[in-house]
Amino acid sequence: MKTRIYKADDLAYDHVREDIRTTILAGRNVVFPTETVYGIGANAIDETGIRRIYDVKGRPSDNPLILHIADADDVTKYVTTIRPYAKRMMERFWPGPLTLVFDKSEIVPDAITGGLDTVGIRLPDSAIARDIIRIAGVPICAPSANISGRPSATLLEHVIDDFSGKVDIIIDGGKTPVGIESTVVDVTGDHSVILRPGMISRAMLAEIDNLVSVNEQSGLEKAPKSPGMKYKHYAPKGELVIIDGAVESVVSTILERLKQHGTQGDQCAVITTSEYQNKFPEDVVFVIGDADDDETIAANLFAILREADQRGMTHIYSMAFASGPHAEAIMNRLLKAADGRIITV
Ligand code: TXA
Ligand code: MG
Repeated sequence: MKTRIYKADDLAYDHVREDIRTTILAGRNVVFPTETVYGIGANAIDETGIRRIYDVKGRPSDNPLILHIADADDVTKYVTTIRPYAKRMMERFWPGPLTLVFDKSEIVPDAITGGLDTVGIRLPDSAIARDIIRIAGVPICAPSANISGRPSATLLEHVIDDFSGKVDIIIDGGKTPVGIESTVVDVTGDHSVILRPGMISRAMLAEIDNLVSVNEQSGLEKAPKSPGMKYKHYAPKGELVIIDGAVESVVSTILERLKQHGTQGDQCAVITTSEYQNKFPEDVVFVIGDADDDETIAANLFAILREADQRGMTHIYSMAFASGPHAEAIMNRLLKAADGRIITV
């Protein structure tokens, strides 16, 4: 298959819009940017395109897909009940990087919910994403546009690496600004439960529901509430280890490790904030941002993991980024990428 790549500006052309519309309605897949990460989209009310997504991503079929809508009012078609606190979350955080999990209505096919009675719904802030949904004229289900288990895609080149020749259309929207996937919150109960942390943080949600809780999943349960959390995620090919603790000890531990690898012909990388980059040899350093700017750290995380792969890094050491307002979300992704390997020094 030859993949057609369009620039966001091409959405102004009728023939491009028609191509997107007919492709989606034919049960095929279009990759498009959202404010969080790129998504691989299909018509959410037809099984053909949904099955193709699972196929092309290599995704387990019990892991449900998020339904993306372009207008908040549309949510009523796909859910049975909206609790008052859920309504207030929609008003405060939509459009934006927040997915709400509701009890689903009849018309939501089992194919997207992995057989669950609930459906995750999100109104993206990205104007391009909303335009794609409106062009299609149907709701769009869209998991992150990465081969299952790989870091999510935040740049066009990531999407091309994973899906060129495997999807009909890719929309190039440049770098996705948020960089990590939406916060997923179960709003079916009396109080909200965070199933996947994200940039809409627990503190932000608590302003609306002060009894919001976090579903702590080791990632190993048999049937976790958010099925996606049980799979190994975001992993780079190299072995990633997080080193946590006082900065001087972290730096000296990493330098010690680099020295040990030096004699073994390993390719090492160090993920650090700009403040400490000069502590490490230049050729191993990946600067993720400034320590006091965790929005930038989040935005760069997946791109760095992918770049480490591309440069053939076999061992990656990362500082922990556990102090800012978005630490919960960032450390969730970093720990998964490290498959839980964290050393406190
Ligand atoms: O930011 C995002 O959410 C991106 C962009 C493309 O919108 N999408 C995304 O989709 O990250 P995906 O499929 O990679 O992750 C969806 C997560 C999974 O962990 C899945 O298990 C969970 O949401 N999820 C979806 N529907 C659910 C449901 N009904 N109940 C519980 N968890 C659900
Ligand atoms: Mg994903």
